[in-house]
Amino acid sequence: MMAIVISRFGGPEVLEMRDVPEPVASAGQELVRVEAGGLNFADVLTARGGYPGTPPPPLVAGREFCGIREKDGQRVMGYTQWAAFAQRTAARSELLWPVPKNWSPEEGAAFPVNYFTAYFAYWKAGLLEPAKSQARVLIHAVAGGVGTAAVQIGKLLGMEMYGTSSSEEKLARVKELGLQHGINYKQRDYEEAIRDLTHGEGVDTVFEMLGGEHTNKSVRCLRDFGRVIVYGSATGQKAELDTRLLYAKGASVHGLWLTYLSNHREVMNEAWTRLAGWTSQGHLRPVIGHVLPMERVLEAYRLLAEGKNFGKVVLQLV
Ligand SMILES: NC(=O)c1ccc[n+]([C@@H]2O[C@H](COP(=O)([O-])OP(=O)(O)OC[C@H]3O[C@@H](n4cnc5c(N)ncnc54)[C@H](OP(=O)(O)O)[C@@H]3O)[C@@H](O)[C@H]2O)c1
Repeated sequence: MMAIVISRFGGPEVLEMRDVPEPVASAGQELVRVEAGGLNFADVLTARGGYPGTPPPPLVAGREFCGIREKDGQRVMGYTQWAAFAQRTAARSELLWPVPKNWSPEEGAAFPVNYFTAYFAYWKAGLLEPAKSQARVLIHAVAGGVGTAAVQIGKLLGMEMYGTSSSEEKLARVKELGLQHGINYKQRDYEEAIRDLTHGEGVDTVFEMLGGEHTNKSVRCLRDFGRVIVYGSATGQKAELDTRLLYAKGASVHGLWLTYLSNHREVMNEAWTRLAGWTSQGHLRPVIGHVLPMERVLEAYRLLAEGKNFGKVVLQLV
């Protein structure tokens, strides 16, 4: 079967489309005939050798997929740590979910990472209860995969959302999903913009996935008792955090990592119950900006690595 293989660690050029041996399911796993794979920023980091827990290359890339489960012919979407970008994969049964009716394989492949992560960001922020509606949330990279999922969920929860992006065009598209306040950080410092837009009060929560100076800046965007949810470092820089900023307003910083949470079955099941309810009512639908055949994998990785994507980048594997 054909697969996308990380031949050695490095930039997108290390990715190769190759013939590899068929997978064998071990205990607790099921075989899936993969139709499409969702590309994540974590895949870019994995190819660079910078993602925790990655085995040495060569290894098959990809952390989420959609395809046909061989044992019952059901179309499923799934989450894994690697080996998703192959024509067949062996995946943990409890991390396979039925694809909502009328969704394409590409939409299924674009769901697990973005929607579970965005859901858990609201969960970590304590914003899932109806009493918390109208809370203010600042979402960095709002036009990306997790960002667009966070806007869809935030709309359902009744949030007042502020989002950053490098492009007016991307912001205009996210506003169509329900984002109320777009901030183009190339044109305006977002800390200053938040101060103005909230009349100096700040936001209840920031979803922070940039690292470097942005962690302190995000804490400065909070109002009293606010929370920053840290879940990535797209700048490639280690987060800078001055804890004195936290004392000064009773604020806190919470870590979020789907890899870790995916080992907690009860937490995943609870999230899926809520997400499945929303998808079945047609309230959530992945925003896909780019669909490319597996032969164009380098292009797909470059879109994400260079921040040129809108929404999700999906690879077709059939
Ligand atoms: N902890 C977890 O479990 C978890 C799970 C999923 C994702 N994540 C993290 O969440 C972030 C978003 O992931 P994603 O897959 O949804 O990606 P994405 O948001 O679709 O793409 C990354 C976006 O980040 C923005 N960006 C800002 N600074 C950037 C930089 N220095 N380099 C590249 N992009 C930059 C770009 O949008 P603009 O041009 O509009 O700014 C770009 O489109 C990543 O940091 C990822 O590692 C964490």
